Amino acid sequence: MSFLSATLARVKPSPTIAVTTKARELKAAGKDVIGLGAGEPDFDTPANIKAAAKAAIDRGETKYTAVDGLPELKQAICDKFRRDNALVYTPAQVTVGAGGKQTLYNALMATLNPGDEVIVPAPYWVSYPDMVLLAGGTPVIVEAGMESGFKLTAEALEGAITPKTKWFIFNSPSNPTGAGYTRTELKALTDVLMRHPHVWVMSDDMYEQLTYGDFEFCTPAEVEPGLYDRTLTCNGVSKAYAMTGWRIGYAAGPVDLIKAMGKIQSQSTSNPCSVAQWAALEALTGPQDFIAANNATFRRRRDMVVEMLNAARGITCPVPEGAFYVYPSIAGCIGKTSEGGTKITDDEAFATALLEEKGVAVVFGAAFGLSPNFRVSYATSDEALKEACTRIQAFCAGLK
Ligand SMILES: Cc1ncc(COP(=O)(O)O)c(C=O)c1O
Repeated sequence: MSFLSATLARVKPSPTIAVTTKARELKAAGKDVIGLGAGEPDFDTPANIKAAAKAAIDRGETKYTAVDGLPELKQAICDKFRRDNALVYTPAQVTVGAGGKQTLYNALMATLNPGDEVIVPAPYWVSYPDMVLLAGGTPVIVEAGMESGFKLTAEALEGAITPKTKWFIFNSPSNPTGAGYTRTELKALTDVLMRHPHVWVMSDDMYEQLTYGDFEFCTPAEVEPGLYDRTLTCNGVSKAYAMTGWRIGYAAGPVDLIKAMGKIQSQSTSNPCSVAQWAALEALTGPQDFIAANNATFRRRRDMVVEMLNAARGITCPVPEGAFYVYPSIAGCIGKTSEGGTKITDDEAFATALLEEKGVAVVFGAAFGLSPNFRVSYATSDEALKEACTRIQAFCAGLK
């Protein structure tokens, strides 16, 4: 019998981390590799946030805090929800964890029993299905393909709901596609959910602040107030404030659920890092203008990447509304053979050959549950992106 648990055997390691590791190894071996796999902004954490963390250390804020967050931070989170999302929560309805990932994980751990189903639209952020499995539930993957802009349709959602459905995980703007739901598109989904009162909504709003052009962000509990009592609205400072390493995420929802999540946290990590919580407080209450400046950069990069990828033979790249990813289709490349002799049977073969022959690391679509595509993160310099897209064009031109 294996020493390792049966639960562990059900989950796989993160494929995005595997790609980043492979790219790093090739780089260390002296190969000229451009990594487009990273899921984090390439900007530094703003100086005022760093200063707040240093001041917290100097004040001696270096001890355990309340399990699910400092009262000051919870209040700032309530203010944020009211200001940005017209959602009214009290501090007792708010929990703070070590990254958005921990809050999502706590919620699943606190609620799932064996046999409980969780609806996850595909393509999905790689961690959703595995977190559901770790928590003992069953992920129900529902396709949201390119023809619907990578957005789940009301019919597909309706068709996936069973008496065992516990949660519907909603992520807009999305990792890996960047797709953002308009209010009308989201209302179509919330209308379905109103007909199924046993289904709860986990809304992962991690990329809320990263949207471009006229797109207006919206979140389920705001679009349909009737869902407020069964929605967990999740967010965090990682992406908008370039704070991935600080590990602060938060969520708001019904008090009983928040208390249950706190119970899990109290017996696992105790509390998120005290210093990082003070930094997050400054992030949420300090100047917000750098977000628009960062977004202008992201938008310029998005437009360049979309244009260059659409100019590559066999690739079709939709224009996403937000986040810092694009998710092009390689349907036009399938069945061809690369200059190096690799037959492009699927998106994994495409990504492997692209890395080995042209030194560009992307994550293949199968990792996100929808093929044949790949994910490009454009959270890297303009020069690196331009060079990477030029290499992708050359790789595609060489396919026979
Ligand atoms: C959609 C989505 N949700 C949640 C997270 C987790 O964020 P954090 O780094 O705060 O745990 C990520 C990180 O990549 C993400 O892409």
